[in-house]
Amino acid sequence: MQKAEIVPHKVLVTGANGQLGRALVSQFSDLYEVVGITRKDADITDKIEISRVISSHRPQYVLHTAAFTNVDRCEIESEKAALVNSIGTENVALACKAVNAKLVYFSTDFVFDGTKSRAYLETDRTNPVNTYGRSKLEGESKCLSSRVDTVIIRIGWIYSENGSNFLKKILAAAKKKVETARATGEKPCLKVVSDQIGTPTWAKDIAAQTKKLIERNVSGIYHIASFPEVLRFEFARVILATMLPDVTIEPCSSSEFETEAKRPLRSSLCCEKLESENLNMMRPWKDSLDEFLKLHGKQLLNEI
Ligand SMILES: NC(=O)c1ccc[n+]([C@@H]2O[C@H](COP(=O)([O-])OP(=O)(O)OC[C@H]3O[C@@H](n4cnc5c(N)ncnc54)[C@H](OP(=O)(O)O)[C@@H]3O)[C@@H](O)[C@H]2O)c1
Repeated sequence: MQKAEIVPHKVLVTGANGQLGRALVSQFSDLYEVVGITRKDADITDKIEISRVISSHRPQYVLHTAAFTNVDRCEIESEKAALVNSIGTENVALACKAVNAKLVYFSTDFVFDGTKSRAYLETDRTNPVNTYGRSKLEGESKCLSSRVDTVIIRIGWIYSENGSNFLKKILAAAKKKVETARATGEKPCLKVVSDQIGTPTWAKDIAAQTKKLIERNVSGIYHIASFPEVLRFEFARVILATMLPDVTIEPCSSSEFETEAKRPLRSSLCCEKLESENLNMMRPWKDSLDEFLKLHGKQLLNEI
């Protein structure tokens, strides 16, 4: 008797050139047929185009990472933030509905105002303090009102070897200090904010945890983050102690760095829900960071 051929489920990833998009494409490629789409394939703000592309692939799952992610630019270009993060997400949701695909929408820790005294749960009240956070929260509402089978995954403080993130900015700034110090003979010293606390998480870990959620066919809102929460200052200290130990760091307040967008001081995400449903694969941030720097640290230092 002939064996029936097992056809892998098809996953379509929007924002496939982004930090998380790349990690998802790589993570799902072993057991799924993966289609990664970029802005060149379809601009998510174009309802007809994104619908055409999703319909032509007929995926079972759409992992929607495409977004206007520059938090300060969102403050200046608020119409674009709403167009990409809210309307664009609605377009993706409606396209999913047309082909009966499950939607996974990546949202943000910035839906919270940061005034809580501990890490945020999925059930906590949202109250974004900037345009980016508001536009992503509107994206969440669009997913829920579309009545598509949806998982909303809130994440924050992502780092990866690709794209722009805090880890790479710290390495770049510290490397510059070392070069300047060489010329002046002074000790390299970097100021880092010590009043922002969050849960830095490697994009690769988010991708692996997302795969687990898909396999278990969950719906609703989930927080995915490494633990425990940590000050930006301490996170930067560990990065530099590993990569550029000659650089000393000095704590400072967020008010010393003027930015267009206000940021919540605490945006840590708690994974109690994952834990209670026996789904939690997340690691301590120090373990992930250690592995990440061993794999990518030297190359990043050369490149930046
Ligand atoms: N980074 C973080 O710390 C963080 C924290 C919380 C939540 N998130 C959420 O996680 C998701 C992934 O973040 P990320 O850091 O991977 O973002 P990213 O590196 O900035 O990637 C986002 C991707 O979306 C694409 N994109 C933007 N506008 C588009 C449009 N109109 N049509 C099609 N594609 C478009 C971008 O393409 P171009 O390069 O062509 O612009 C980019 O490749 C986002 O939804 C973000 O809101 C991120």
